[in-house]
Amino acid sequence: MQVPPFSLSQQLTDLGPELDDAILRVLHSGQYIGGGEIQSFETAFSTCVSTAHSVGCNSGTDALILALRGLGIGAGDQVITASFSFFATAEAISAVGATPVFVDVDPITYLIDLTKIEAAITPNTKALMPVHLFGRPVDMEALMAIARRHRLQVVEDCAQATGANWNGKPVGSWGDVGCFSFFPTKNLGGAGDGGAVTCDDDGLAQRIRELAVHGMPRRYLHTALGYNSRLDALQAAVLNVKLPHLSTWVEKRAAIASRYIKALADLPGLELPDPAADPAVGHGWNQFVVRVNLSQEEQQTESAPGSNPASHFGLPKSHRRDWLKQSLQEQGVSTIIYYPIPIHRQPAYVDLGLAPGSLPMTEQLCSEVLSLPIFPELSEEQQDRVIRVVKRLLSSSAQEQMVA
Ligand SMILES: Cc1ncc(COP(=O)(O)O)c(C=O)c1O
Repeated sequence: MQVPPFSLSQQLTDLGPELDDAILRVLHSGQYIGGGEIQSFETAFSTCVSTAHSVGCNSGTDALILALRGLGIGAGDQVITASFSFFATAEAISAVGATPVFVDVDPITYLIDLTKIEAAITPNTKALMPVHLFGRPVDMEALMAIARRHRLQVVEDCAQATGANWNGKPVGSWGDVGCFSFFPTKNLGGAGDGGAVTCDDDGLAQRIRELAVHGMPRRYLHTALGYNSRLDALQAAVLNVKLPHLSTWVEKRAAIASRYIKALADLPGLELPDPAADPAVGHGWNQFVVRVNLSQEEQQTESAPGSNPASHFGLPKSHRRDWLKQSLQEQGVSTIIYYPIPIHRQPAYVDLGLAPGSLPMTEQLCSEVLSLPIFPELSEEQQDRVIRVVKRLLSSSAQEQMVA
């Protein structure tokens, strides 16, 4: 049996006729840009996120750029965020001319370490950009308190967390702006690229709407240099079919996560995503990410500078994680590493001059994390297979270490 990390095939079977109808309806309407599908989606999505506005756009990356531009963030400004994220988080900050300032992450939640944010604030800091990574919400009560204390704006990167909430209040409704991605592997995925920005402020929503269409408040009047970044009608039609299923899909993801947590507890060298999470965490479970800790032998090698087999990005390399990934693959279980290289160590950010070791927990996580298969339609049989193989591999590796 092969277990993929993600698959749409069952969802396409279940929703196939409805999706076909929706796509053909748009195709035959000839209305591909703007129109009713987009308006219905924006209304339904803002209800789902509990905000006054939702503005569709071309991608999650564009949502972040539009949000930052809408808030007036640009050259000379600093935005505090996490380096343990997808590259687009920081790329969007740089794209508007601002500078990303990275704060290390918490070893348990994998999210921005709230205790380290204030030390990173300077007179140039304009905003905080928390990332609800893997679907887990940042503690938004604590983060908003920091933002209020320092009069900072808050742009939530909700790309991986559609359907998640902190203390019952949806992500994307806490900060000044929420930014969502409808990339096909996300909790709510379109049939291509798509995104949305959510907010309560009427003026901000209007600015973002105009920026997404060439800075154009009315036809052929351009008051700002904007973008061509619209959610198109075909994507909106697909999302309109899928949105009513979002909460059931998130529940299914949560059930899969709790089965993993129960079945894989206490395995040697494996850390699970915070099984005793704060009850305020309304997890979206876009990914189920475990830490495969370095073996004792690797830790000794890592602690001897110069002699470790670090990758050419200057990061410790976990042979154990890579061995587990490879061994699972050989038994038909596909996994993914989100993310092998932290943003601050990417060649594109060499100019930031952040040396190896500058964000130790981020760097350690990049060498230890592994995402196990999770998607709403993952069958119990498939999940049992993943659990069996992980257990077998880790127990036998522990026994081998004891004998050695
Ligand atoms: C945390 C995070 N931010 C932003 C993005 C960008 O979204 P998109 O791919 O829709 O541009 C992604 C996409 O993977 C993401 O995971």
